[in-house]
Amino acid sequence: MSVLIKNGRVITAGNDCIADIYIEGEVIKAIGQNLQVKAEKEIDAAGMLVFPGGIDPHVHLAMPFMGTFSSDDYETGTRAALYGGTTTVIDFVLQTQGDSLKAALTDWQSRATGTAVGDYSFHMAVTDFNENTKAEIKQMIEEEGISSFKTFMAYKGALMIDDRQMFGLMSEVKKQGGMVTTHATNGDVIDFLVAKHRAEGKLSPLYHYLSQPEVTEAEASNRFAQMAGYTGCPAYIVHLTCEGALNAVRDAGRRNYQVFAETCIQYLILDASLYENDFEGAKWVMSPPLREKKDQAALWAGINQGLLQIVATDHCPFMWEQKLMGKNDFSKIPNGHPAIENRIELLYSEGVAKGKISLNKFVEVSSTNAAKIFGMFPRKGTIAVGSDADIVIFDPNGKHTLSAATHHMNVDYSGYEGWEVSGKVKTVLLRGKVAIDGDECLVEKGNGQFIKRSKVSNIV
Ligand code: URP
Ligand code: ZN
Ligand code: ZN
Ligand code: ZN
Repeated sequence: MSVLIKNGRVITAGNDCIADIYIEGEVIKAIGQNLQVKAEKEIDAAGMLVFPGGIDPHVHLAMPFMGTFSSDDYETGTRAALYGGTTTVIDFVLQTQGDSLKAALTDWQSRATGTAVGDYSFHMAVTDFNENTKAEIKQMIEEEGISSFKTFMAYKGALMIDDRQMFGLMSEVKKQGGMVTTHATNGDVIDFLVAKHRAEGKLSPLYHYLSQPEVTEAEASNRFAQMAGYTGCPAYIVHLTCEGALNAVRDAGRRNYQVFAETCIQYLILDASLYENDFEGAKWVMSPPLREKKDQAALWAGINQGLLQIVATDHCPFMWEQKLMGKNDFSKIPNGHPAIENRIELLYSEGVAKGKISLNKFVEVSSTNAAKIFGMFPRKGTIAVGSDADIVIFDPNGKHTLSAATHHMNVDYSGYEGWEVSGKVKTVLLRGKVAIDGDECLVEKGNGQFIKRSKVSNIV
């Protein structure tokens, strides 16, 4: 199949021009003005923005967590991602403590293989670092194409590792050419505050927020960055939410430590006042919690200063009935919120259309940097000859309203109900195939491919 996309405004991290894109099979064959080629399918993109398919490197699909499973599986989650202009996602395999990385990988593969509609890859979450785990790191990187190792400095008693394990993991991952990533909050302090609030009978969602103050994130981010600097291991902080944590990243950069960081769309545009509305606030119970307006300003600045390279989602949806597991105790509300489908449109609408970030920066943080940091560039993350033809055709004037009634995520509420966005994903190509055409998804369950990733380099 060959496709010619004509007359679009083609935006990459480093370019912005009116051009035609010619695709043969799964890859881009030519880019230029007035390309004189015959294609089986022609798409007129005049007046449209044309940019690389989004990459969301932080999602949780069909994840066993807090006594339940996140409600989007690989089929519904990657399909919703495509509707929202995201063509590749990176999910997290979770090691079971006492068990091997390989066993966890087999488990996750059984849920994803033949199910995903869009492309996907895996991070490996190490929840138990010991001599056996250490021996598996090389194999994960070189044979499985999994070069990033996720850790949790919180969720004490479930997923959290201690600093001894962190240090051991960083040393080994550095040696083998990978990267360590972390959920950077101080699990011991959070555990203390959760117990204190529960003992005082303070059980509403507001106390989820008050149990994870900024200091818990600033302290853990600094500790992680310092350990990364000492071991020399490339490092990445997921879902960074606040000024204090950003300062830890800034300090690490001053010493030339390789510490990358991601924020998520919700932290840029929602704030902690949402926890004041009694149990309704459970919709936004996630870890870390939403912060203050001053943090939002710091995060937008962090993007423009290059301290935050990626805007992800941490998509981890739960049905309202699942959220009700914590009706009488905030510590039992499954943590997470749905956004996989909304990220690109919200970032364009709140970031580009409101003048906070440039179009090139928008492409960088929604796609290109994730491909570079996580070893998929230039196959993914750009529009270039030889790259996969993962392409979004976007109507910058396509105003519409977000709602659970119209979204494609498998969750019965929206964190953004009634939110007016300026700009709409119109057509999405995944490896040269039209996957989304207006309201229709034209690709099937099983269409998504697992993307093996390379060792970590230091280009961003
Ligand atoms: O609340 C969240 N973030 N849920 C998903 C798990 C995690 O910590 O990323
Ligand atoms: Zn997390
Ligand atoms: Zn997460
Ligand atoms: Zn939309």
